[in-house]
Amino acid sequence: MPLLACEGGRPVRPDFLVFGHPLIGQEEIDEVVDTLRSGWIGFGPKCLRFEEGFAAYTRSEHALSVNSATAALHLALIGAGIGEGDEVVTTPLTFTATANVITHVGATPVFVDVDERTQNIDVSRVESAITPRTRAILPVHMCGWPCEMDALGDVAERHELTVIEDAAHASEAWYEGRKIGAISPYTAFSFYATKNLTTGEGGMLTLRDDVAHARLKALRLHGLDKDAWKRYSPGGFMPYETIEPGYKYNMTDLQASLGLHQLARLEANLRIRQSIWRSYDAAFAELEGVATPLPVDREGTRHARHLYTLRLVPGRLSCDRDQFIRALGAENVGSGIHFVPVHLHRWYRSHLGTGRGDFPVAEAIGDTTVSLPLSASMNADDVRDVIEAVRKVATRYLLAGTVVPGWSDDMMEAA
Ligand SMILES: Cc1ncc(COP(=O)(O)O)c(C=O)c1O
Repeated sequence: MPLLACEGGRPVRPDFLVFGHPLIGQEEIDEVVDTLRSGWIGFGPKCLRFEEGFAAYTRSEHALSVNSATAALHLALIGAGIGEGDEVVTTPLTFTATANVITHVGATPVFVDVDERTQNIDVSRVESAITPRTRAILPVHMCGWPCEMDALGDVAERHELTVIEDAAHASEAWYEGRKIGAISPYTAFSFYATKNLTTGEGGMLTLRDDVAHARLKALRLHGLDKDAWKRYSPGGFMPYETIEPGYKYNMTDLQASLGLHQLARLEANLRIRQSIWRSYDAAFAELEGVATPLPVDREGTRHARHLYTLRLVPGRLSCDRDQFIRALGAENVGSGIHFVPVHLHRWYRSHLGTGRGDFPVAEAIGDTTVSLPLSASMNADDVRDVIEAVRKVATRYLLAGTVVPGWSDDMMEAA
C-alpha cells in the first residue's frame, strides 16, 4: 500500500487542486475589461441586466442584486418585519451567516435538527419549535438539495409565518415543478467565490411583493429614494434623499460582468458537475469507511449539485475527519467541511446556551462530513486524482479486519 504524502510518500498530484475553483470563461474576462474601460464600475446597467436575467432564470417576480447572500438574507428579514424579541426557526447545519443575520435584526435563531438523509431541516420537528414569538422559518437547501417546501409552507401558513429560503447552494434547484426562487416570499442566493455561479462576492434576493421590492431596493443602497446611482450618469444629477437609513449592500457592474456570463453557463456547468457526481458515486459506492450522499432527482425536483459530501463511517477508520482532510490536502486535493453546526460556535454557545447533544443529527454530520472538489472547471485528470486520493487515504486508515475491495488479506496485513 503506498505511503500517504502526509507520511512522507508521494502526493497523488504535483499541484494543489483548489476546492471550489471556479470556471471563468473568456466572456467574463472580456466583459470585465469592457466594464473597466467604460468609465463606470459601480452599481449600474450591468447589475440591472443581471437582475433581469436572474429573475427570468428563477421565474421570480423581482431580483435584487446585492454584495452577498448574507446581505440578501438580512434584507429579507427586514422586509418580513422581523425584529427585536422575535424568533426565527432555522437549521443548525449551515454557514454561520444564516444565524448571524437573525441576530443582526435583534431576533433569536431557534434551531431544529436536520434529516440525516437530506441534511435539510427536519420538517417533522419544526412545528414543536414554534412559539408565540416565532415569526419566520429560514430553511437552507443544503448542498443544493431542495427542502420539503410544501410541508414547510403548510406549517408557515398554519402559524402565519414568513418563509425566507437560504438558497446559497441552490441556484439551479427545482422543487415539485417550481423553481427555487419563485416559491417563498424571499429567497437568498450566494455568488461567493466557490459557488455554482460566482461573481467573486455577491448575492441576489428574489422576492414576490412589489411594495417589499421597492423598499428593499432603496435599503440595499443607503435607503436613498429614486435610482440614486444614476446621479453620476450624463445629465443625470438628481436630488436624492434618505427615505430610511439603509445599507451599503449593492453589487457593482464589475461583479455583474462575471454574473451575466456565469448565469448563461449555469445549466451547462450543472451538467458537468452531474457527470463528476456520477463518477464519484461509482468510484466510492464500494469503498469501505466512507458513505456517499444520496440525492435522488425526482420528476420536477432537482438537486443543484453544489457540494458532494462524503461521510466517514464511524468506527471504520483509524483517523478522524480532520486528519482525513489533512491527509487529502497533503495529496494535493483540497476539500471542505460543511458545516460545523452553528449551535456549537462559541458565540451561540455563550449567548443561546447551546452545546453538544442538542442536535445530534447535525452534530454527527458535522463530525464526519468531507466535501470533495466539484467544479465545472475540473478535467478528467482532476476527477481521477480526487478519486485516487480519497481511495488512498480511506484505504490507509481503514481499520484492520475490514474489507477493502481490490485488496487481499495479505495486502491488508502489510498495510
Ligand atoms: C448556506 C449558506 N448560507 C449563507 C451563506 C453566505 O453567503 P455569502 O458569502 O454570499 O454571504 C453561505 C456561504 O457560504 C452558505 O453556505
